[in-house]
Formats: sequence, C-alpha cells, structure tokens
Amino acid sequence: MSASTFGTLFKVTTFGESHCKGVGAILDGCPPGIALAEEDIQPQLTRRRPGQSDVSTPRDESDSVTIMSGTEHGVTLGTPIGLFVPNKDQRPGDYKEMSQVPRPSHADYTYQKKYGTRASSGGGRSSARETIGRVAAGAIAEKILKDWFGTEIVAWVSTVATCDAPDLRGVGVQREQVDGNIMRCPDTAVADEMIAMVTAAREKGDSLGGVVTCECRNVPVGLGEPVFDKLEAKLAQAMMSIPATKGFEVGSGFEGIRMPGSEHNDMFVQKGDHLGTETNNSGGIQGGISNGEDIVFRLAFKPPATISLAQNTATFDGDPAVLEAKGRHDPCVVNRAIPIVETMAALVLMDMALVQKTRA
Ligand SMILES: Cc1cc2nc3c(=O)[nH]c(=O)nc-3n(C[C@H](O)[C@H](O)[C@H](O)COP(=O)(O)O)c2cc1C
Repeated sequence: MSASTFGTLFKVTTFGESHCKGVGAILDGCPPGIALAEEDIQPQLTRRRPGQSDVSTPRDESDSVTIMSGTEHGVTLGTPIGLFVPNKDQRPGDYKEMSQVPRPSHADYTYQKKYGTRASSGGGRSSARETIGRVAAGAIAEKILKDWFGTEIVAWVSTVATCDAPDLRGVGVQREQVDGNIMRCPDTAVADEMIAMVTAAREKGDSLGGVVTCECRNVPVGLGEPVFDKLEAKLAQAMMSIPATKGFEVGSGFEGIRMPGSEHNDMFVQKGDHLGTETNNSGGIQGGISNGEDIVFRLAFKPPATISLAQNTATFDGDPAVLEAKGRHDPCVVNRAIPIVETMAALVLMDMALVQKTRA
C-alpha cells in the first residue's frame, strides 16, 4: 500500500523528506516530443522556495531542479522523467525539543502511531518540502496545457485570518500582479494589511491561516470522468492533499446556499462559436465535467502548527509538557502555497485531458 502516486495517465510519484539528501518526483506518462528544460520548471519552484520574505520561514533553500532522465536534447522521450532537488539548509538539531513532545495539530503523533517510527526532524514526509516534487511535475503539466489549449492557471491570496481582499474572480488577475507583493494578494492595500497581521503574529511567536483562490482559464470542455473521477472530486483530492488545507469549495461554494435556484443558475448564452454561461456559480464544472468557463475554486489553509509560543500539551507518554517550538517556521503558508495550488490544478487538468484524449 503506497499513496505517494497521483494521476491516472499523467502519473506523478513524489519522494523525499524534509531533512534527507533531497526531494523530487518521477513523472510517468508525459507525452514524447515536448520541448522541456529545467528553465520551464524552475520558476514555479523559485516561487515556492522558502526564505523569500519576512512573512515566510527563513530556511534558505535555492531549490534548483535537475532533470535526471526522460529527455534528450531538450525534448521529452515519453519515458519517466526524474526530477531532483537537493536539500541544502538542513538543521535537524532544531527539532530536539519535539522528540518527546508531539507538536499539537502537526503530524508527529499520527505518523508515529501509524508507522511505529518517524523522521526525527522537521515533519519528515509531512513537511511542505514534499510538495517540491509535485510543483516540479505540475510545472511540466502547466507548460503542456498552455501549448495545447492556451490554459492559464492563476492563484492568489484572498484572505489572511480576518482580512479579506475584494472578490477578484472573473477579472483576469495575472501572475505578475500576484507576485507584485510578498503576500501574493493582488490588492496591494489589502496585502499591506495582511503583511502587518502576519508580521505581528510572527513577532508574538504565533501563526495565521488564510484562503487561496484559484482560476483556471481556457480549459477545454469535457474534462472530468463521472462519477468517481468527476473534475471537482479530482481537484478536491489534489487540493486537500496539500499540507495544512482545511476546506475546499468550487464556484459559489458554501455561499451559494444563500441564493435561490433562480439566482444561482448559470444561464446559457452563445459566446462566439460555443455555448457559454452568463454567470459562473458552477465554477466551470457541471456534472463533474468542465464546461469551458473558468474553473474557480477556493482553498482554506489553517494557521501552521509549529509556533514558538509556549503551549501546554503532553509528551508521547502522556505526561504534561510545555512546548515552545524552535527552528524556522512559516508564520502563514498561503503565499508560499500559491505555486503548489496552481501546479496541483495543472496535474489534475493534464491527467483528465490525457484521459479524454483516449476517447478521440
Ligand atoms: C508551503 C507550506 C509551508 C508550510 N510550512 C509549515 C511550517 O513552517 N510549520 C508548520 O508547522 N507547518 C507548516 N506547513 C503545514 C504542515 O506541513 C502541515 O500542517 C502538517 O504536515 C500537518 O498536516 P495537516 O495540517 O495537513 O494535517 C506548511 C504547509 C505549506 C503548504
């Protein structure tokens, strides 16, 4: 039994823990004949890397990817693509105080109970360093989707704790706007408020949660496999596999329940050469199948668990203990999660596109 592989035809297996020699992925099922170089993958890894700003962990990793296999002369061979990123700034000693005390709301207790052992430092496989492999493979998916369909996937931070950005869905937010500030919220005034909140939390030794909104544009009609592999079900699985996620909604989501059907229904209308909808409460998916409108979803991330404030908790043996976590941790993960969300969405869409192609 292993659950480190994702995808039906565009299949990604990730490997690595937070403090081992390195992390990465094997991508099987990538079509042959596609121009591919490290430069196609690196930008999303660089956006994900730690040490970028005061609102992220200071762990300093360049996260430089090497394509180990599956290409020749910069073109894919159709064989498994090996992607490797070395871990460089490991400091396993940072985690000593947690050897006897499982971090509240982290994965230490559950990994220990499930496997009877666990990586002694930094969350091991539950660390967000695992996501490097997915981001690398997903960047390849993004490139192919863009070449084939002109697909554009853009995610941004829409909420930090109690601070909400205005609703920017449907206005064509671009990655350059998202990367215009360290919080990755395209509304710069709201971003400044968010940065102040995260900085204050970090200075207190605390952490904050938030929401990421993601839009996938120019997605062809027909992706998604009813009934168990409906597109929203695949996206939900992909998104909820990202560490620290607590909620997922598509289109109108939980707010949609406040509208009667007459308001909620997306009326069909001719758009150029195809049928589109006037509104997009469906979030681009109907019956588990993409309808050609933007695919829109939102994802809630909890406040990260490792904080340096003293917490009254218990040791693995059940004795009362006070934990003040040391080490370098993210006071809020949403801004670093942006490329992870985008590339996971790309993995789902690419996989579903290959599955749909088998019908043609
Ligand atoms: C980009 C990113 C960075 C993260 N950084 C941290 C961190 O510095 N400290 C921490 O406790 N959790 C961090 N997390 C979350 C943990 O990995 C996660 O909470 C933990 O594995 C437990 O899993 P769960 O929250 O999904 O239950 C991060 C998550 C993401 C997506």
